[in-house]
Amino acid sequence: MTLQITADEYRQFREMLESSSGIMLGEGKEYLIASRLRRLLDSQGLKTINDLLRKLSLDRALQEQVIDAMTTNETLWFRDEHPYRVFRERLLPELAEARRPLKIWSAACSTGQEPYSLSIEIEEFRKLYPGKLASGERILATDISPSSLAAAKQGVYQQLAIRRGMSDKHLKSYFHPRDGDCWQIDEKIKSRVDFRSQNLQQNFSALGKFDVIFCRNVLIYFSGDLKYDILRRMHGLLNPGGYLVLGASESMNNLGEYFDMVQCHPGIIYRAR
Ligand SMILES: C[S@@+](CC[C@H](N)C(=O)[O-])C[C@H]1O[C@@H](n2cnc3c(N)ncnc32)[C@H](O)[C@@H]1O
Repeated sequence: MTLQITADEYRQFREMLESSSGIMLGEGKEYLIASRLRRLLDSQGLKTINDLLRKLSLDRALQEQVIDAMTTNETLWFRDEHPYRVFRERLLPELAEARRPLKIWSAACSTGQEPYSLSIEIEEFRKLYPGKLASGERILATDISPSSLAAAKQGVYQQLAIRRGMSDKHLKSYFHPRDGDCWQIDEKIKSRVDFRSQNLQQNFSALGKFDVIFCRNVLIYFSGDLKYDILRRMHGLLNPGGYLVLGASESMNNLGEYFDMVQCHPGIIYRAR
């Protein structure tokens, strides 16, 4: 039976979701709640969104599950290609000059394709230019979604997910076949990445300093104010001259005092002032 959501339930649910994760649901997205929460409601023996909202206030674990279910985890390997070309051809050679281990943050890593793509780029760069990069680089990969993080940590992908952006050449070099039409990411690529839970709405100043931040295809879910606040706080975590890479449909407004725009033809990246 379809889950019926009243206008008042929808309003309260939207408020709860935005205040706990920053994710804003537009008008008329009741169908998203119904499709994404149906199973959770059934497993909890709850009949309505009102029942869920009442239980949520007392149950933190359930709140996590609701946020997890409401996140959009769509991702792919080397998404949009040009950010990775810029990373490979411009950022790595430039940052290598600093002669210290690179620190990179993939700030909404979903199931791991973004940080592992970055790790593959580093591996390829090392093969092409032995000794150019200082050893010991680290990629920190964070997300709010526990199920995505668990999948990312495992590093096992079905053929369908592999086919979304992974070339045969890289598949051969950096994956091992597993039972059930699956592929396991190579340990060398995996060992460069640390996974951690982080809600971008919350304080992330303890994560450390970075040379490059990839924050792609997540700010689109947030309000303008939250987006501004996150980008300003990310600026505080970038080493001088460090770079911020946003998603193809994401841009920056009113942050000229923090970042310079760098045209990359195609695409724009941002350099910390
Ligand atoms: C569409 S995916 C983008 C993944 C990857 N960056 C890419 O571009 O392919 C958006 C990710 O943002 C995460 N997310 C949503 N709200 C978040 C928040 N408040 N803090 C951290 N991550 C969040 C979701 O869990 C999801 O994995």
